[in-house]
Amino acid sequence: MTDPLPFERSDTFFKVAKFDDLTEGEGSVVRAGLKKLALFLKDGEIHCIQNFCPHAGAFLGLGDVTGCVVRCPRHSWGFDFTTGACLTNPRYEVKRYVTKVEDGWVLVGVPEDGNLI
Ligand code: FES
Repeated sequence: MTDPLPFERSDTFFKVAKFDDLTEGEGSVVRAGLKKLALFLKDGEIHCIQNFCPHAGAFLGLGDVTGCVVRCPRHSWGFDFTTGACLTNPRYEVKRYVTKVEDGWVLVGVPEDGNLI
C-alpha cells in the first residue's frame, strides 16, 4: 500500500468516472476541469497521474499496464503510477492527484494552479 497523497485545501474535486467502469490492469484518460488525467485501478485502489508523458507528450492513460507500472505508448518509458517515478529516466516524474470514491463515482482532486498538466 502506498502512502496516500495529502490533498490541498485548494483542491477542487471533479467526478471523472464511475468506479464500476474501471478495470484492473487498464488505464483510462479522464478530464478534470481543463486537465486530462490518467486513471488506474490497482488492488482496489485508484491512482491518478498526469496524462501527458513528460518525455514527448503521449497519453499515459493509453499505455500498457503491468502491476503498478504504465508503459508510455510512444517510446515505452515506464512510470510507477503509485509514486509518479519514471523507471526509465529518473530525472523525470509525473504528477499524482488525490482520488476518492463517493456514491460509486471516482473523484479527483485538482489544485487550482492554472496549469494544464
Ligand atoms: S512520449 Fe512517452 S516515452 Fe516518449
